[in-house]
Amino acid sequence: MRKPLVAGNWKMNLLVADAVKLVKELKPLVQGISGVDIVVCPTFVTLYAVSEVLKGSNIELGGQNCYLKESGAFTAEISPQMLKDVGCTWTIVGHSERRQFFGEDDALLNEKLKFALASGLKVMFCIGETLDERQGGKMNDVLTRQVTKGLAGLSEADFDEVSVAYEPVWAIGTGVTASPDQAQEAHAFVRGLLKTQFGAAVADKVRIQYGGSVKADNAAELMAKPDVDGALVGGAALKADGFAAILKGAL
Ligand code: 13P
Repeated sequence: MRKPLVAGNWKMNLLVADAVKLVKELKPLVQGISGVDIVVCPTFVTLYAVSEVLKGSNIELGGQNCYLKESGAFTAEISPQMLKDVGCTWTIVGHSERRQFFGEDDALLNEKLKFALASGLKVMFCIGETLDERQGGKMNDVLTRQVTKGLAGLSEADFDEVSVAYEPVWAIGTGVTASPDQAQEAHAFVRGLLKTQFGAAVADKVRIQYGGSVKADNAAELMAKPDVDGALVGGAALKADGFAAILKGAL
C-alpha cells in the first residue's frame, strides 16, 4: 500500500507575512495526521520564514525548483544544498510552467532530478500533456517521452525518494479537473511505463500524484482511484482550510 503524498505548490504567490500566516493556520488543522505525507512548497524567499514555523510539525518543506550545481557562478539559481539548509526535504522538478515558460527540457530535467537526489532531496517529478497534445492523440507519446527521458538512469532505490506528478497542462489553473477516470487512465499508463523501464518493484512502489484544479470537493474521488496516490495542489493550497480538506480526502 502506497502512502498518499499531498503537496501544495504555492507557485509565485504570497509575501512573507502571508506565507507565515498560512502555515500557522495549517499546522493545527493537520496536527496528528500521519496517514498522508504533507508537503508545502513556498517561494524561495519565504522558505526560511515558513520553515521556522514548521519546526516540529508533520508538514515537510519543499522547493519548487532547483539547479544542478551545488554553488558557483550561476546567477539567480538555487542549489539543493541551499534548499536543505533552510529545512527542505523535497523539491519539485519539471513543473509544466518550467517546461513551458522557461524552456526546461527533458535532458535538463533529468540532470536536475539526478543532482537533487544525489544531494539528498526527495523529488516530485512532474509530467503531463497539453490540450493540443491530448486532442491530437499524442498524450501517450508525450508521457512516454517525459518518463523515458526524464527518469533515465534512476535506480530502483531512487524511487523511494521520487514521486511522479501527473499534471495535465489543460487542467492546471483552469478549473477543468481531469475526471477520476481520466486521471486513473493516465496514471495506469504511467505506471505501465515505469514497469517496462524499471520493473515491477518500482512500478508497484512509486507514488503518482495527480495535479490540476484539485479542490476540496474533487480530491477524495480522484485519490480513491487505485493508481492515484496523492495530489499536487496549486490554487487550492493557498487556503489552509481548503488544503487541509484536500489532504483529509487522501485518508
Ligand atoms: P492548480 O491546482 O492551481 O490547477 O495547479 C496545479 C499545479 O500546477 C500544481 O503544481
